[in-house]
Amino acid sequence: MDTDEIGNEEVVFDILKQLFSPGQTKEEVKDGYNSWADTYETDSNPDRYTGPIQAAMECCEVIPEANREDALVLDVAAGTGFLGNELQLKGFRNLHALDPSTKMLEKANTRNIYQKLINKFISEEPLIQVEADTYDIVASSGGMGQGHIPAGALWEMLRITRQGGFIILVMREEYLRHPEYDGILEVLMENMEKTRKWKMIKKRIIQKYFAEKEGVAFVFKKA
Ligand SMILES: C[S@@+](CC[C@H](N)C(=O)[O-])C[C@H]1O[C@@H](n2cnc3c(N)ncnc32)[C@H](O)[C@@H]1O
Repeated sequence: MDTDEIGNEEVVFDILKQLFSPGQTKEEVKDGYNSWADTYETDSNPDRYTGPIQAAMECCEVIPEANREDALVLDVAAGTGFLGNELQLKGFRNLHALDPSTKMLEKANTRNIYQKLINKFISEEPLIQVEADTYDIVASSGGMGQGHIPAGALWEMLRITRQGGFIILVMREEYLRHPEYDGILEVLMENMEKTRKWKMIKKRIIQKYFAEKEGVAFVFKKA
């Protein structure tokens, strides 16, 4: 992967296109982020990528300021910790980070804001490190997409969220129509609501989520 032209928008879109393309194995995705870790934050700076700010905004809406210090939040697909940083600025103090890329997590760790790092992929399989009903919020910014978080991982997010807690997903809107999610992800979200596993309390379109691309934020409350 060529990351020489740091910050160039076309180059960044090329990197993302490759990482989110069909047929990428989990190992290739992980290696791709390991290679990108050093320049990720310049390439995905907040002027271009607003996902972490948007996800933090949703976390703040569901947890009032007075309760933030005590709320336990898992940042899924934490990368270099952009979302954790935003949450910390808003008064959250109990933050865990999960990401399969060691290099991305190393960067996140240098922020000294996460109490626990989990170097794993999230999937439909239970994470042995995490007990059921643990988190007040399970949140992800930029982690949903082809070759990244599989639709079935919603079950694992639900399992590890406490009753009455929240699952917050912020992602590129067009990824909803990529093969891995099209007719699957939102159908699963609806089925989980119909079977009273959770309630969708928000679906919000985000303008200029990544450069000119639209994003979408989902907020669910565990029943
Ligand atoms: C585009 S980055 C987003 C990072 C960070 N959340 C942000 O907003 O800057 C996507 C991240 O998803 C991670 N990832 C990919 N597949 C994953 C999975 N199955 N479970 C958890 N994280 C995953 C990658 O390692 C990478 O750090």
